[in-house]
Formats: sequence, structure tokens, C-alpha cells
Amino acid sequence: MSRFAADLKPILHLFLAERRRALLLGAVLSAMTVMAGIALLGLSGWFITATSLAGLSAAAAITFDVFAPSAGIRLLAIVRTVARYGERLATHDATLGVLAALRERLFRGFAEPGAARALSHRPAKLLFRLTADIDALDSLYLRILVPAAVAVGAALAASVALGLMHPLFGLGFGLFLAGTGLGLPVIAGHAARKHARRRAHGIEALRSRTIDLVAGQTDLLMAGRLAAQKEAIAAADGYAAHADDRLNRVETGLTFGFGLVSTLLLTVSLLAVAALAESEMITAPVAALGLLVAFAAVEPFAALRRGALELGRTLLAARRIAPRLAVADVTEPLVAPPPGYAFSLPDVSAFHENSAVPVLQGIDLALQQGERLAVIGSSGAGKSSLLALLSGELPASTGSVAAVTATLLTQRTELFEDSLRGNLLLANPDTGEARLRDVLAAAGLLADVEAMPRGIDTPLGEGGLGLSGGQSRRLALARLFLRDTPLWLLDEPTEGLDGANARDVLCRLAAMATGRSLVIATHIRREAAIADRIAVIEGGRISEISRRGEAAFEKALDRLRPD
Ligand code: GTP
Ligand code: MG
Repeated sequence: MSRFAADLKPILHLFLAERRRALLLGAVLSAMTVMAGIALLGLSGWFITATSLAGLSAAAAITFDVFAPSAGIRLLAIVRTVARYGERLATHDATLGVLAALRERLFRGFAEPGAARALSHRPAKLLFRLTADIDALDSLYLRILVPAAVAVGAALAASVALGLMHPLFGLGFGLFLAGTGLGLPVIAGHAARKHARRRAHGIEALRSRTIDLVAGQTDLLMAGRLAAQKEAIAAADGYAAHADDRLNRVETGLTFGFGLVSTLLLTVSLLAVAALAESEMITAPVAALGLLVAFAAVEPFAALRRGALELGRTLLAARRIAPRLAVADVTEPLVAPPPGYAFSLPDVSAFHENSAVPVLQGIDLALQQGERLAVIGSSGAGKSSLLALLSGELPASTGSVAAVTATLLTQRTELFEDSLRGNLLLANPDTGEARLRDVLAAAGLLADVEAMPRGIDTPLGEGGLGLSGGQSRRLALARLFLRDTPLWLLDEPTEGLDGANARDVLCRLAAMATGRSLVIATHIRREAAIADRIAVIEGGRISEISRRGEAAFEKALDRLRPD
């Protein structure tokens, strides 16, 4: 129960902080709609019975006032319609507003250091979360909180009305209705919880496995795993379907339970009003009113049915989203390094998320402004991790990173489904045409772009589809050139380019980088050769640092891949 509250708290907090007035207004209007409905039904029952009784004797028919009750009925009908309209408007507007705010918070969370890394591990999962989990939260207010409050309110109002006929009748009715009306959904919600959670997991697996099948078709086919992947998808589908089936059963059970309880309640109410009328404690029209009020008061509880079934899903969504909302709104910028330096790492260690071994250990390194450092070492030694540390992606566990603003050229080229121009403008939205051509030329891509029928406006597919590996890399470099930061962090910048092209690009890169500091993670001699210093990293530790002109520098270069 406390976990339940802990998960919901930040979300409720956000709901209330965001649109408190509209949400309360929606709840009030919702209650008004239901109350007006109950009163309408009760008054109508009273009126019909009273008129027909009045019709039995001529004297009564003349004195019977038909105008006041019928005006009341009309008023209630209008109030109900207007309140319902207003309620829809207020609740949906408020809910959508709150969900939009939630999405914004989540997006901001994804912009936190380290989040991009997590995102790239499971993009399908996170995408799903952004859409489905937030959608699941709209149940919380619309289908759980408001209907529950309104139903309890209706039960209370009805028991007061019936209590005026006989206190015991009102009390018994109210207690039974509230007890069963809330008890049944709670029981059903509990029974559905596991299945709702399983269904959500199943659908998530179904999605990500299908995405894997589509995106990795070639690899799966070559590895002979296509059939196995299809089976895995079928298994996820089966799992979700099974959970769905169970949920349907719970829903059927709940519908049946509601039917049973309301029949029971109405039968007892009918007997009660009949007995009260018989003993002349109430008149026949009032008996009709009582019965119809009882009938109408049961109705709002049926609205809790969907909310009860979705409770499990909603709680799961809350549990997954809540930690993301706790993330601070603004991230601390990295500490500034001492004057004249691009960065300084005083004995810094770092861990990757969910990893018990440090990926970097006791890194003691500083770079002066304008200096160029190459970081070399075998695959998995920690080169990319060092760049992640310097860009603020990877937090330091001991020691603190002090660095100027940096731009990171990641090892894997990230391009977006947009035009070439759009992909470049990401780096700097205000760039003019001439500058775009300059950076394309500097990256050695201008001739290729000009050969395309639509030039710089050529649209790219998802992940930059439509360009070769080398062209994608050069586009990423062109984008880097638009980033006017004092420090550039380059992860294997010319990987995938042929020797002549790479040398050309490196030459321009060196020219563009004049006055800036560079850190280049590399396996290739030509890339390390533009550096002033070389740091060798082994198993997360720096094992050697050499400066241009020293013998160790040449030896380090010799260990690298020629061209
Ligand atoms: P190459 O790019 O292959 O030359 O290697 P690198 O020197 O750039 O290695 P990198 O810094 O990427 O990785 C260093 C170690 O950290 C390796 O053992 C990786 O398995 C591990 N590692 C890298 N990224 C992650 C991550 O996101 N999470 C976890 N848990 N480990 C990671
Ligand atoms: Mg790397």
C-alpha cells in the first residue's frame, strides 16, 4: 500500500500542480451531472405516479399542480446536459494538459547526462514508455479518481434522500452500496493487476521483437535466425493474448458481480419502499421516487469497471514514470577548468550504469587550451568512456570533471529522418546557405551532395538511410564543424573513410580546429598523428603519456593501424 502511494505521489502531485482548478472543476461538474441525473429520475418517478393518482379523482386532478414539478424536471434535464458538456470539456482539457506536461518532463529527463546512453540501449522500450505509459495515466483521473469520488458522493446523496423516508433504510442502503460498489472494483482491480501488468510487458516485448525483426532482417536471415525471431514474436503475442483473456474474465466476473449486487439492492429497496408505503409512512409517489433514486445511485459505480481493470496498468505506468519525474529540472553544468585549460581530471574514476567494475580508474589528466590529445588503446579499453566523461555524459564516481563546453562526435554516426540540411541545422539552426556549403566542403561531402538531384534538400531515411557509411560519417563531421565550442571530442572521426579521403578530411579538420582543443579517440595512425600528445589507455587506466618529439610518441604511433 505504501509503495502504491509512493508511486502515485509524484504523478498526483504533477496532476494537481499543473491544472488544479480545471481538475477540481471537472470533478465538481461530474458530480453535478450524476446528482442531477439521480434527482431527475427520482422526481420523474414521483411526478408520473402522483399525476396518475391525481387522475383517479376529479377533485384532486383540479388542485394538482403539474407546473412546478414539470418545471423542476426540465431544469434538472438542462442542468444535467450542461454539466455533462462542461465536465467533458473540463476533464478532457485538463487531462490532456497534464499529460502534455508529463511528456515534456519525460523529454527533459531524456536530455539528462547518461539518459541518451540508456535510450540507445532500448529505444523501442523507451519509445513505448513515452507513448503507452503516459496514455495509461489518463485513466488515473478520468476513470479512477473522478468516478470513484462521484460514485461515493452519489451513494451518500441517495442514502440521505432515502434516509428521510426511513433512517434505517437510508443507512443500510448507503453502507451496502458504498461497500460493494467500491469493494467489487477493488477486488477486481487486485485480480486484474497481474494480468494487466503481463499484458503491458507482452505488448512491449511484441513491439521490440517486431522492430528487431524489421530492422535486423538481413542479419537474422544470414544467421538463420529468422524463423526463431518469428517464433519469439509469436510467443510474445501469445503471452499478451493470454493476459488479455484473463483480463476479460475478470471483467466478466466484475460485470456479473455488479449485476448481482444491483439486483439485490433494488429488490431490497423495492421491498422496503413497499413496506413503508404499506404502513403509510410514505406516499406512493414518494415510494416511486425512492425506488428510482436507488436505481440511479447504483449506476455511477458501474463506471468504475474500466478503471478497476486498468488500475494495474496505471500503477505500472506510474511506477515506471515516477523516477524520471524526480530528476532535477536543470542539470548542473560541468565545473570550469583552471584558466588556460580545456579540461582537468584530477584522479577521476567512473562506472557505467549497472556495472560493478569501474570503466575508468584513477584518470589524472589535463589538457591546455588549443592542445590536441589522442587517446589510444585496444578495443574496450575505455576510450569512448573517457570522451563520455569529458562531455558530461558519464558521471564521475570519484574526483570531479572540470571541462569547458564540448561537442562530442560519437563513435556511431547518428543521423535523423530529415533532409541533409535538417541534419546539419541541428548543430546550429541559424546557419546560412554559404556556411552550410563551407562545412560540407570541409568534410569532403560537397561534391557528393551536389551530384544528388535535390542537393542539400535530399531527404534521408530513418537513421540517415540513403547515404553510404563514409558519407554518413562525413555528414556527421560537417555537423561538428558547425559547433563553435572550445573543445571537440572526436571518437574515431574518419573511421570508414578511404585513405585519401580521410587524409583530406583530417587536414581540413585540423584547420577548422585551430584555436580549439581536441581529444581524438582512435585506432588509426593518421588520426593520432595530428595530436600533440598521446595517452595510452589500458583497462580503464592511463598507462603512458607521450609528447610529440619524444621517442615514446613515435613508438605509440607505430602501434597504430597504418591508414
Ligand atoms: P572501442 O570503441 O571498441 O575501441 O572501445 P573503447 O575503448 O571506446 O571502449 P568503451 O569506452 O566504449 O568501453 C569500455 C568498457 O566499458 C567496455 O568494457 C564496455 O563493455 C563497457 N561499456 C561501454 N559502454 C557501456 C555502457 O553503456 N554500459 C555498461 N555497463 N558498460 C559499458
Ligand atoms: Mg569506442
